[in-house]
Amino acid sequence: MVPKVAVIGAGTMGNGIAHVFAQSGFPVTLIDVSQPQLDKAIATITKNLDRQVANGSLPEQKKADTLGKIVTNTSIAKGVTDAGLIVEAATENTELKLKIFKELDETAPAGCILATNTSSISITKIAAATKRPESVIGMHFMNPVPVMKLIEVINGYATSKNVRQQIVEISKQLGKIPCVVNDYPGFIANRILMPMINEAIYSLYERIAGVEEIDTVMKLGMAHPMGPLQLADFIGLDVCKSILDVLHDGFGNPKYAPCPLLVNMVTANKLGVKSGEGFYKYMAGSKDLVVSDRFK
Ligand code: CAA
Repeated sequence: MVPKVAVIGAGTMGNGIAHVFAQSGFPVTLIDVSQPQLDKAIATITKNLDRQVANGSLPEQKKADTLGKIVTNTSIAKGVTDAGLIVEAATENTELKLKIFKELDETAPAGCILATNTSSISITKIAAATKRPESVIGMHFMNPVPVMKLIEVINGYATSKNVRQQIVEISKQLGKIPCVVNDYPGFIANRILMPMINEAIYSLYERIAGVEEIDTVMKLGMAHPMGPLQLADFIGLDVCKSILDVLHDGFGNPKYAPCPLLVNMVTANKLGVKSGEGFYKYMAGSKDLVVSDRFK
């Protein structure tokens, strides 16, 4: 049976997650406290479905079917009443996630799986905010969600085998490849990705090479689709810093400390694509990659 899915948070990850579930035939309730944010998310999903129709990866009729599967709600309590799976994709803030999971514990139906798309917060800690930690699991999607194949499935300390098996099965139904890992800081994706990004930023900070050179080495030498500095801008420099802080605090190893240049850029609100400038400058409507004046 196809469970009803509730997705909490209508930002970049939330709208992508709602998109892929609906496209795979799951009825979805997209929940956010802000109605304008929900409207924006539906507009983004429509635009991304249009891209898929334009490049021939989705039949036109499937666009209407997908949009027809998504409803929105501004209340968690009302939006989760008949959900079989909830995927939380709210802002990456520990207190906020703990508050949401406490509320889900009180409002979600018995037997419902409570998944979180956190990129770095402990699943075990989030699960401990509920009285049903065996039902809590990490379901870490990658951005852009409709394009990226991986779902990192993270076992909390108490996650049951049955819940893990169901999430692995559902991930396959989405056309994704699930990889199961255990709950330690950064899981696998960010434990490996963030030190690479941090090292790229150190290479720039120590003037070993320029922005374009660092990114070109990794694009052409290692066949990465984006260089690490462009990828950091894409993810958000604030997000990269906060994940490095989680690794640094969690392992107590100085090798994870965020590079002082990254710390300065975040303090100066140069956050990458979302603020219009990071290692590169982003002009609305332009796909050209222009290095920020600061690094020329
Ligand atoms: N929805 C639907 N389709 C999309 C899309 C979206 N949001 N974004 C891109 N696409 C499609 C495009 O339509 C295009 O399709 P065709 O080639 O068939 O026309 C295709 O994807 C490629 O897109 P573009 O032509 O716009 O650009 P590109 O070739 O430069 O690829 C990219 C863009 C897919 C983002 C590629 O650069 C890439 O893979 N980058 C690395 C992304 C990555 O590493 N993501 C993980 C980040 S880490 C994370 O998310 C987790 C964390 O915890 C930090």
